[in-house]
Order: sequence, then C-alpha cells, then structure tokens
Amino acid sequence: MKDAVREASAMLRAGEIVALPTETVYGLGADALNPEAVAKVFAAKERPSFDPLIVHIASRGDLKDVAIVPDDIAETVNKLTAEFWPGPLTLILPKHPDVPDLVTSGLPTVAVRQSAHPVFRAVGKELGRPIAAPSANRFGRISPTSASAVMKELEGRIPLIVDAGACSEGVESTIISIEPREGKKPVFRLHRAGPVTKEQLQNFGKVEKFRENKSEAPQAPGQLESHYAPLTPLILLEKPEDFVPEEGKKYGLLSYTGDDDSPYVNLHDWEAIESLSPGSGKLAEAAIRLFFVMRMMDEAGLDAIIVEPVSETGLGVAIMDRLRRASVNFK
Ligand code: TXA
Ligand code: MG
Repeated sequence: MKDAVREASAMLRAGEIVALPTETVYGLGADALNPEAVAKVFAAKERPSFDPLIVHIASRGDLKDVAIVPDDIAETVNKLTAEFWPGPLTLILPKHPDVPDLVTSGLPTVAVRQSAHPVFRAVGKELGRPIAAPSANRFGRISPTSASAVMKELEGRIPLIVDAGACSEGVESTIISIEPREGKKPVFRLHRAGPVTKEQLQNFGKVEKFRENKSEAPQAPGQLESHYAPLTPLILLEKPEDFVPEEGKKYGLLSYTGDDDSPYVNLHDWEAIESLSPGSGKLAEAAIRLFFVMRMMDEAGLDAIIVEPVSETGLGVAIMDRLRRASVNFK
C-alpha cells in the first residue's frame, strides 16, 4: 500500500485525479487548491459545476487553511471535530479565500471533513494539501463502495484507482451547517443524513432539517431530488399493499432481512431477493451493503427493483434518504 500511497499523492501533486477509498464511499480526489485538477473531477463525473465538492483535510489543524471559523461557533466546531473527526461528519463553514470558487461552486461556504480511512489519510499527509473529493460515480448514479464499482463508473476516464477493499460505513458523510444561538446550544441544519446520526448530534446542539429555497440556485445542490439512481426502475414501498405487479414483468425484492416471515418476502414470487442485513436486521450492516446490493440488482436484468422500507431511526434515516432519491425518477 505504501507504493500506492506514494503514486497517488505524486499524481495529485501533478494535477491528476485519483480514486481513493474513504470510510464512507470511494472518492474521486484532486488537489483542492488546483482549479485545473478540480475541473477534471467535474469532467470525469459529468457533474454540473453548480454542485460543490467536499474538501478533505489530513489533520484537524489544517481546517484553518480551507475555512474561516467564526468566533461564535468556534467552540462548537472544536467540540464536534474532537468528537467526530476523523470520521463521517462534514461541516459547512465560511470558505478561506485560497479555496478556488470551482470547488465551492461560487458559494461563500466550503464543506470540510477529515476522512478516517488510513489510506486516504496517508495520501493527504504525503500530499500536504487538502483533497477535494466527491463520490467516485458518474453524476446522479449509485455511489461506489468498492474499487470495482469505481471501475464500472469511471473506467477510461481516470488514471488511477487505489483499491483498499470495501468501505466500512457504506453511505456518504453527514453534512451540517451551524447556526449560533445567544445563550443556547446552536442549531445544526442537516443538509444530508449520514453515518453520524441525529441522535449523536443532539448532544451538541439542536438538529433541524435544512430547508432548501427551491426558487434559488440550490444551496445544497447535491441534495438534488434524484440521486443514487440505478438504471433499472427502483420502487420504494411504504407498505406491502402498495405493490401492484404487472403481468409478465420480472420483479426483484430488496428486502431488509430477507426473513421468510417478512410480509414483503411473501408478497410475490420474486425473480430475485437480496437482503440489506440478512437474518440479523442491523442498520449498520444495511448501510454498508446498500449501494453494493443496489448495484448488483441493477445488473440482474429485472424490470423493476421493489424495495422494502427500513425504520427511520439512527442510520435508517440516511438509508431511507438514499432509497427515496434513487426512486424519484420512477414514480
Ligand atoms: O462521505 C462523503 O462525504 C463522500 C466521501 C468521498 O468523502 N463524498 C461525497 O461527496 O459524498 P459528494 O460530492 O458526492 O457530495 C457532497 C455534497 C453534495 O451534496 C454537495 O452539494 C454538498 O456536499 N456540498 C458541498 N459543498 C457545499 C456547500 N458549500 N454548501 C452546501 N452543500 C455543499
Ligand atoms: Mg455523490
């Protein structure tokens, strides 16, 4: 792995883009302070330039190089980063002038996190500069949680993928912005649900939904309604009765546990059944497997993927968010 780290950081230093493992999903990295390199990320992903990237720093001390933390939230930022970094929490903060506008899509803010993945961290340390990295998929498609999934998404478009096996979280980082309140704990606006749950954040502030002003340019553009979409229609059920099969069509079930007693399993003579957490029903396992199983079912030649909902507590919020967005085009 040492050679791979050296090669990856040398390529980044030379202004190339490289797919790298993080604990959440694989990212497509570029030197965050090099606009030409960042432009290659947008091109390879076919990502519209209004959708800003997350900047990854190698150590907490590097935060000052990419963001300017206002005094009235400094203590909160210290507490959050002490608790959750390195890890899957992204903070939206006022941007440092050195961060190119292309990275932030012209926004006055920058999204920052410190990845916990040892390989990503090693590359960042070796490079000595922040790494801008969105998920390493084509725009709007399923995020990759393995090097082979990155291959399927971006083969021929990028010069290097560093393979460090499967990602340990499986869904993208939680994204928040922070609003200070006089004499009270701050409000956290949840821009994207992720592995750091609402329940965990509540120890440090009040968690509220981010309300997007739909009439303006998106303020959290990646939160576009349709996202994570397979090519096969994906239909998320609210309850078993919502499933109305059409004659002669091949349906697969994406089940939570795949349990024989599940009303969803017994609903139909499924062409295929895949489970997010076979047998045990653990949300952490379901999150890790989510994009992998979605991709597998997308490749199974089905007419539609029918999905059983999971409970919306803890990590279930992030999972249901991804499933809703994956189903939007097929309503
Ligand atoms: O776990 C993750 O966050 C992964 C790994 C690679 O770190 N990255 C990731 O990046 O999911 P991406 O580009 O797929 O999603 C970044 C999200 C988008 O929804 C984008 O709109 C939002 O972050 N974002 C970035 N900068 C922002 C800003 N200044 N204000 C609001 N939202 C921002
Ligand atoms: Mg993404």
